Amino acid sequence: MKTIITNIGLLSGILPVETKKVSGTEMNLWNGIENAFIEFENEVIADFGSLSGKEINADKIIDAKGGFVLPAWCDSHTHLVFAAWREKEFVDKLNGLSYEEIAKRGGGILNSAKKLAEASEDELFDFAWQRLEEIKLTGTGGVEIKSGYGLSFEGELKMLRVIRSLKEKSDLTIKATFLGAHSYPMEFRENHEGYLKILIDEMLPQIASEGLADFIDVFCEKGYFNVEETDRVLKAGAKYGLVPKVHVNQFNAIGGVAVSVKNNARSVDHLEQLTEEDISILKSSNTMPVALPGCSFFIRIPYTPARKIIDAGLPLAIASDYNPGSSPSGNIPFAASLACLNMKMSTNEVLNAATINGAYAMAVEKELGSITIGKKANLIITEKIPSFDYLPYRFGTNCIAQIIVNGKA
Ligand code: NIG
Ligand code: FE
Repeated sequence: MKTIITNIGLLSGILPVETKKVSGTEMNLWNGIENAFIEFENEVIADFGSLSGKEINADKIIDAKGGFVLPAWCDSHTHLVFAAWREKEFVDKLNGLSYEEIAKRGGGILNSAKKLAEASEDELFDFAWQRLEEIKLTGTGGVEIKSGYGLSFEGELKMLRVIRSLKEKSDLTIKATFLGAHSYPMEFRENHEGYLKILIDEMLPQIASEGLADFIDVFCEKGYFNVEETDRVLKAGAKYGLVPKVHVNQFNAIGGVAVSVKNNARSVDHLEQLTEEDISILKSSNTMPVALPGCSFFIRIPYTPARKIIDAGLPLAIASDYNPGSSPSGNIPFAASLACLNMKMSTNEVLNAATINGAYAMAVEKELGSITIGKKANLIITEKIPSFDYLPYRFGTNCIAQIIVNGKA
């Protein structure tokens, strides 16, 4: 089936097939074709260009009515499978407690783990499904989802099986990350070895035998997993072909970037605390730095120093970190507005950060993240807007008229 979108005010996010990610000053480029069309054959982009002189011959015609078309967002960092919201912790926070203080009182990740243990796979699926539908409305076409609220053999497997069902049933492109090393469960607080043994010798082999994960993640942070423990977990994952995508430098720079790069991480995420040494390590790597502005906003911590990263010639992706504790929003346009205002990114930079660089951060850059012949037709059609600057400018307003996923409206 051939579909064509006509009357596109500006078609943008066009990249050559060989572009895997954009870095440094290139991040500020966001060109387009005015008065354009794009055609797809089933789910794959087949042609695009200027509408003038174009013969229209398709099974389905979508009129963009002057709206802009761009690649759908790739949200490369979420925890959107969870059993319950944590709005009571929001109130605690308003009353003055920090994220770390809430965690110390048994809130935080361990609170989510307790709720997850009580939820069935079906309940988790239904609840997560709603969130997938929600993020689609704000333009997300590809999403990475982490485990990490199980923190036991049964719990982690349950989460990853839910993610597998979401992959099977959703038309969004989904990647799964095993985050068993999100926090030490209460009963292993004083017995790290005990938990690492279960994670490495029991969870990982089972996850691998069921093919449940694409990536492996660790919360490398003071009070969570230290550098040596992170190294062990990443190496154990690599034995099963799991590529690292790692939570590092959220509150403290303890060497998380170095250990992740050494283990060939696809991405290092958070980076609110970043040293000069971290920057130079990233410069000699293929690892994508990922900023999570929604998390900085919500738990009121510093923002990732985007200017330092991009001005050093590095690439940068932005993602939502959608989770019930530190970022209860999967809204990428809102994250983009935050990145412009608080990370001093240009409007063009955030567009690249949420499309091609997001795709790279979740290793789907060959199929998503740009307007390129052969890639999947996962696209956003905006309302009629005056320019792309308008999207992050109109924070909190959904300017999306239609989202196309796998070539379908
Ligand atoms: O990316 N920092 C660690 N993990 C999540 C938060 C998880 C939670 O609070 O439930 C994050 O911010
Ligand atoms: Fe996270």
